Amino acid sequence: MTTPTVRDIFDSMAYGPAPESNAEVLAWLSKHKSFGHWIDGAFTKPGNTFESRNPASAKPLALVTQGSASDVDAAVKAARRAQPKWAKLPGHARAKYLYALARLVQKHARLLSVLETMDNGKPIRESRDIDIPLVARHFYYHAGLAQLIDTELPGQAPLGVCGAVIPWNFPLLMLAWKVAPALAAGNTVVLKPAEYTPLTALLFAELTREAGLPKGVLNIVTGDGDTGAALVNHPDVNKIAFTGSTAVGRKIREATAGSGKALTLELGGKSPYIVFDDADIDSAIEGLVDAIWFNQGQVCCAGSRLLVQEGIADRFYEKLKRRMDGLRLGDPLDKCIDVGAIVDPVQLATIRGLVDTNKDGETYHAACDLPEGCFYPPTLITGLSAASTLMQEEIFGPVLVAMTFRTPVEAVDLANNTKYGLAATIWTENINLALDIAPKVKAGVVWINATNLFDAAAGFGGMRESGFGREGGWEGLMAYLKPSHAAKAIAQIKPFEAPANPEASSIDRTAKLYIAGKQARPDGGYSLPIWSPKGKLLGHAGIGNRKDIRNAVEAAHAAKSWAKTTAHTRAQILYYIAENLSARAAEFATRLRDLTGKSGEAEVEAAISRLFTYAAWADKFDGAVKSVPIRGVALAMNEPCGVIGALCPDDAPLLGLISVMAPAIAMGNTCILVPSEAFPLAATDFYQVLDTSDLPAGVVNIVTGPHTELAKTLAGHRDVDAVWSFSAAPLSALIEKESAGNIKRTWVNNGQSRDWLAHPDTHAFLRAATEVKTIWVPYGE
Ligand code: NAI
Repeated sequence: MTTPTVRDIFDSMAYGPAPESNAEVLAWLSKHKSFGHWIDGAFTKPGNTFESRNPASAKPLALVTQGSASDVDAAVKAARRAQPKWAKLPGHARAKYLYALARLVQKHARLLSVLETMDNGKPIRESRDIDIPLVARHFYYHAGLAQLIDTELPGQAPLGVCGAVIPWNFPLLMLAWKVAPALAAGNTVVLKPAEYTPLTALLFAELTREAGLPKGVLNIVTGDGDTGAALVNHPDVNKIAFTGSTAVGRKIREATAGSGKALTLELGGKSPYIVFDDADIDSAIEGLVDAIWFNQGQVCCAGSRLLVQEGIADRFYEKLKRRMDGLRLGDPLDKCIDVGAIVDPVQLATIRGLVDTNKDGETYHAACDLPEGCFYPPTLITGLSAASTLMQEEIFGPVLVAMTFRTPVEAVDLANNTKYGLAATIWTENINLALDIAPKVKAGVVWINATNLFDAAAGFGGMRESGFGREGGWEGLMAYLKPSHAAKAIAQIKPFEAPANPEASSIDRTAKLYIAGKQARPDGGYSLPIWSPKGKLLGHAGIGNRKDIRNAVEAAHAAKSWAKTTAHTRAQILYYIAENLSARAAEFATRLRDLTGKSGEAEVEAAISRLFTYAAWADKFDGAVKSVPIRGVALAMNEPCGVIGALCPDDAPLLGLISVMAPAIAMGNTCILVPSEAFPLAATDFYQVLDTSDLPAGVVNIVTGPHTELAKTLAGHRDVDAVWSFSAAPLSALIEKESAGNIKRTWVNNGQSRDWLAHPDTHAFLRAATEVKTIWVPYGE
């Protein structure tokens, strides 16, 4: 090919190549050639290596070591040794290290960007202008959190050793998202990068040495899923933070069930990109380029599901195709390209397989030049139905699927017609419409007239099968902390047994279940006698079963308009419940004495006070406006989780139930409560209090019965959004395992007791009862 002259270029107006130099990266790589793990502040000797390749050229870049279980063990031991000293440092000292890391990332930004692009295949424009600046920003922000932690979060302690398992799509950014908050909070870390993209993590390891980070505070073990599994299963790890596929997230949920390990999961998505007919179409198209062709569409929150209002659909598709044709694919190091290489031939085959097996709709591949190798053309598939596989499954490539809608209501229905709930984008010039839709879409992040905005100050994360937990902001930091007060093992509580010669009882006092605001007979038709410590028959409690739980879940769903009532109304109802309980305080105190043999006055008084506490919080557990670097606002809105199932404590039969119910309903959730198994009658008496307190039917449902059986059904139920357990029965493993089905949030006691009378953790309950939704609203003409 002859080199074009200046005149030729003026005629064609074509972009010439503008490659970024890779000389420094090649020099760094040739210094190492093959890498061991980074453990206790130094590289181990390489062994059992595999290649990390440049997907754009298929050339090997370096050899990295496949981590074995004993490598993981060595890394965990180093992290464990380093942790107490790291945690004891004042927040200011940890802040200085994080600040040093932020500065070093900035200093070496070009080297990190080029290496990231070579290892992953993403355009240099993205790694240089988005990934690496966000990495630096994350360390700066968390230097700030480390500085403030001592004064702003008293009573909180680090979790210990955190295991982080991260994907290949944003290798260094995901490292930053896990490592910065963990270190800020006083934890130490063992990180397992993705097998396709381990190199920037290893370069970062060297930067930690330059920053003087104490040995063992950050350890990096490379390898594949087996290495990840060894880390997940290591008994001396206190938390796993994972980003990756929903399938592996589910496995990790099951593997950590009952281990007491904290867990956050950032998983897949099929995020809707909703365009209303009054949108600024050209901007919406530019946004879409960013939504689905950024990082070749290999983005968990990619706007991969276009929903466009019917009236403008044809025009929109036509403009979009024209824009797609103009996208430039090519050498990721070329600053003039828009779309780079797919991370690996395996991922390319997955994308191809999904698109080629689809027989629905019309497929349009952009008419742009497609380089040889690991590249896939920008693709649009229109005319799909809501149930089409490609409308539902994550493709994780540069493939946009589209369908139309007519009304805002239909747009919301289609947007939510997915098992995921990560992100959503809304384009309309009507801000009323946008702000009306934003709370209605099931997503942890919503962008209005923009897309793919990220910042360390704003929480990022999903709901439903997109996982749980937030990264960024104060809310993200909380996932690396626990209450510092010591907990004791929970005492097993057994019901009092029947006396040898029970007295005959003249009246049948069988308490029913409480479902949809009505007393309902248990489906099985059985009940259990409840005896006082002195052998007096106090009554019978219904034995609820699976079917009763299902009915209760249905009732809780039917009552979900509770979430739309004002916080003021919810507070008033909680006060009213307190008032009605207060009117019958003596009767409840007697009941508690009869049930437990202990005085009940203090418990009833505390229960009334607890109702007041959460009534007070109902309109005060505020969201926030985050200070993000855009012209506009990022709102952190506290939303209810949805339907919460809770196994209530045995040791405080009335107070425990109320302590669980009150925060749940104060925040707008509906709930299914399983009262104390040993002493259920305090809860069944409470039905009448609820009945007289203006609480809408179905907001609180109460099913008495065996905790183990009911917990299993609640945790496995796909329409339950969260399960909490404070039961004296050992249910934590069961609940966490069963919850993997729809990846619901869980909060279990891991066999530890709680002082219900003192109840120091009000905020923990409020946080468990809410999802933080981040809504980005850029503004300006
Ligand atoms: P993956 O979920 O298998 O890998 C993510 C990380 O988990 C990697 O570090 C991997 O080594 C590790 N891992 C794999 N199996 C493990 C196990 N059993 N225990 C512990 N760690 C394990 O993702 P993969 O295979 O790279 O990509 C497959 C699909 O996953 C993609 O096509 C895409 O749909 C989705 N994906 C989603 C991401 C997201 O950000 N939500 C990121 C990467 C992939």
